[in-house]
Amino acid sequence: MYPINSKPHRSVNSNKSNDTMIRRAVISDISEIVEIENCSFNVPWPDFLFKAHLNNPGFLVYVEGGVLGYAIVSVCDDKRKAHLQSIAVHRDHLRQGIASKLLEWCIDLVKLYGFNKIMLEVREMNIAGQLFYFKNGFRVEGKIERYYFDDNAIVMGRDI
Ligand SMILES: CC(C)(COP(=O)(O)OP(=O)(O)OC[C@H]1O[C@@H](n2cnc3c(N)ncnc32)[C@H](O)[C@@H]1OP(=O)(O)O)[C@@H](O)C(=O)NCCC(=O)NCCS
Repeated sequence: MYPINSKPHRSVNSNKSNDTMIRRAVISDISEIVEIENCSFNVPWPDFLFKAHLNNPGFLVYVEGGVLGYAIVSVCDDKRKAHLQSIAVHRDHLRQGIASKLLEWCIDLVKLYGFNKIMLEVREMNIAGQLFYFKNGFRVEGKIERYYFDDNAIVMGRDI
């Protein structure tokens, strides 16, 4: 996929410091990512799952001092659509537009690969997550009963 790590010093916002960037995740980011994960989800991914994604160029981190957020985009099983696997932001930095920026980068990345649709599943109980996706142009496309061991999934999609 697109070598996003070849431009690691591109600034995220013109009004942010030069140290603010979105880049591909590397092994040394994993402990900070797991910390964010543990504060963000009732059933967090363990570190080995994140490590398994390190060869995925769609595994991105937002860095400002440390890692403040991450997103993982890959390909749906049918290979025709992109799939947002997960996105989370450090609890001290919510509502600062970080997840929106990460999502924008994920979408730019998969568009470069020729995808024109991005899909995701979000817990039915995760209203904040659904509102975030609505704000970013996603629409509900379905529901999968008991997709999670303790919850249903709302399937959302966005043409890109
Ligand atoms: C969902 C999440 C990723 C959003 O991250 P964020 O960086 O705070 O999001 P942004 O600042 O880009 O928010 C953009 C918009 O989304 C909506 N939004 C985000 N969080 C929201 C919340 N808690 N309640 C209501 N709307 C919310 C708002 O419209 C917001 O715009 P505004 O702040 O101008 O009102 C973050 O809350 C998080 O990490 N949650 C835990 C993990 C999770 O649920 N991930 C998504 C499912 S996999």
